[in-house]
Amino acid sequence: MNTETYHVPVLLSESVDGLNIQPAGLYVDVTMGGAGHSRAILGRLGSEGRLFGFDQDADAVQNAPHDGRFTFVRSNFRFLRNWLRYYGVDQVDGVLADLGVSSHHFDEAGRGFSLRADGPLDMRMNRQARLTAADVVNGYEADDLARIFGVYGEMRNARALAAAIVRHRSVIGSVGTTMQLQQVLQPLLHPAREKKEMAKVFQALRIEVNGEMQALADMLTAAVQMLKPGGRLVVLSYHSLEDRMVKNYMRSGNQQGQVEKDFYGNVMSSMRLLKGYAQEASPEEQERNPRSRSARLRVGEKTA
Ligand SMILES: C[S@@+](CC[C@H](N)C(=O)[O-])C[C@H]1O[C@@H](n2cnc3c(N)ncnc32)[C@H](O)[C@@H]1O
Repeated sequence: MNTETYHVPVLLSESVDGLNIQPAGLYVDVTMGGAGHSRAILGRLGSEGRLFGFDQDADAVQNAPHDGRFTFVRSNFRFLRNWLRYYGVDQVDGVLADLGVSSHHFDEAGRGFSLRADGPLDMRMNRQARLTAADVVNGYEADDLARIFGVYGEMRNARALAAAIVRHRSVIGSVGTTMQLQQVLQPLLHPAREKKEMAKVFQALRIEVNGEMQALADMLTAAVQMLKPGGRLVVLSYHSLEDRMVKNYMRSGNQQGQVEKDFYGNVMSSMRLLKGYAQEASPEEQERNPRSRSARLRVGEKTA
């Protein structure tokens, strides 16, 4: 497998433009994956520049660029600050995040992310992590399953989906594979939207298994703290919950999006959102790369 088949980068030039790269600057790609964005960043850095690339999936290490300016960190990006401190770095010029999973994850049936091929209920990006999709599907109470399907999957019939799983567990036994899970849920999905809805159920499980919302909040907090004034935070998200959280941090520097004002009403936020709207991929890119269809790009700048 080469980096092209591993993952096709989304909104590549637009997101790297958003970093406003200084040739001697220090940047972090917190989701290296197939390294498409990392290579483009290296292409704009001078010999003094430095790039750190994070990925929690050990499979990604094969894509790490062989370049003296690059350092790969196999870790969850929630530990961004700790790892950079370990390397003696306190401040950075830019952080780029391209959230979620890569095409590689869907292509490997054994990882359990794909709707097309049968596989174990796994869905861990980091295969050393404890929680698997099987633990969630077979171990969570109905209320917790319904919350996950409703909040992370935006499924209107989240309660019915959860009830079907719990019923299957008590009558037949645990759900073993991704295809079995689809068989249990399929009667509850709208026939015309079955694939889309199933993808949302899988997405919801994946977000829970990988603790994606908490990891994102931790990473954004660390990025806001570490950016130099004028430094850039560039995030590509694929889910409305993620995009809302990203927007809040970029507008205010905090998760709630609360913008503080001084006595005179002047905004005192440590971050500034560079555009009021999220950028989407062009129709050509969406045609070429279906994965780009749900992408939302936002760029924030550290003010002080
Ligand atoms: C959408 S892909 C990134 C693709 C990349 N921009 C490229 O050009 O190939 C997301 C990658 O980030 C990794 N990832 C997702 N969440 C992570 C996290 N919390 N910590 C570290 N890596 C993460 C995934 O394993 C995956 O390889």
